[in-house]
Amino acid sequence: MRTQKTQEKAGFGSKIGFILAAAGSAVGLGNIWRFPYLAAKYGGGIFLLVYLILAVTFGFALMLTEITIGRRTGKSVMGAYTAMDKRFRPLGWLAGAIPVIIMPYYCVIGGWVLKYLVVFLTGSGKAAADNSSFFSNFIGHSWSPLLFFAIFLLITGSVVMLGVQKGVEKVSKILMPLLLVLIVGIAIYTMTLPGAIQGLEYYIKPDLSAFSIKTVVAAMGQLFYSMSLAMGIMITYGSYMRKEDHIENSVRQIEVFDTVVAFLAGMIIVPAVFVFSGGDSSALNAGPSLMFITLPNVFSDMLGGQIVGTVFFLLVSLAALTSSISLMETVVSMLEERFHLKRIPACCTATGCAFLIGLLSVFGYSIWSDFTIFG
Ligand code: PFF
Repeated sequence: MRTQKTQEKAGFGSKIGFILAAAGSAVGLGNIWRFPYLAAKYGGGIFLLVYLILAVTFGFALMLTEITIGRRTGKSVMGAYTAMDKRFRPLGWLAGAIPVIIMPYYCVIGGWVLKYLVVFLTGSGKAAADNSSFFSNFIGHSWSPLLFFAIFLLITGSVVMLGVQKGVEKVSKILMPLLLVLIVGIAIYTMTLPGAIQGLEYYIKPDLSAFSIKTVVAAMGQLFYSMSLAMGIMITYGSYMRKEDHIENSVRQIEVFDTVVAFLAGMIIVPAVFVFSGGDSSALNAGPSLMFITLPNVFSDMLGGQIVGTVFFLLVSLAALTSSISLMETVVSMLEERFHLKRIPACCTATGCAFLIGLLSVFGYSIWSDFTIFG
């Protein structure tokens, strides 16, 4: 009975479609922005080593478990936990709440990336980099971040509305190979910059003195973030997976894709920032401003920086888009299952709610910046 139900549910049409969609979820802002600066901060090669060990052990086991739960139950994250055991119901609620909370802020940052893509595409990258308050002016602007957030969210909603096969799978099959080509291209270019090799050495040479329990904790946190674990995404995608496809092989390929992209992003960002800052590694610890202030400066000083900047922000936009699609698909699958909504009303509801929640993030930097809760 359960098998019959699962087969009725729309799902991925091919194994490669599933792998690329799941890899699309895993590869996102976490790989391109978060991984490189954590690696630089926590001892370069030693962080990479710890991350790799955790990825092939914990990461592999957790992703395998989530996809298996999804495929076996054929349900959304909320239904899947309950289907396994009624006592797990609260876990389903908890895991299901995470994409609802993350999706709006993820799309706000996606909007920022889109803005920078437009800036570089229209040839204003250098002017933006030369103006030290460009980023703060942008996020503090009354309507500009709202507009880019709305565009990013609408693109996400439109893809999800097309369905699992015609939307999520099709888009992933086009964007993921493109993303790989773009990142390999910029990584090769960065390696040709003078001084890049010292930066690369800093990135991959293990600094044992920087190793501590914090390295392991940071690598573990990054693992969950990067592999989209513990938030129902992999359960949802697993529920759309074909019964005849091999789960272990697929997880292996998703992991390799995710880790290779993170490693290549580090190969671009660490040496580039290293060269730009004259070997000052603290420039890599800039947090969110690394991507929106430091990197545009690096590009504007580079030969062909306008093109490299455009390609880079295109790459980040695509990576963020395939991840936000997976976050929305997880929410939509819950709405379809729990409230028996059809796909279009479910997508409209998810998009509308994300828009309202996202307003907190958008205006939190501008008109609502004085608003605080309990101080
Ligand atoms: N795994 C993706 C990334 O690394 O950006 C997307 C993502 C999903 C990030 C959920 C964070 C998150 F909490």
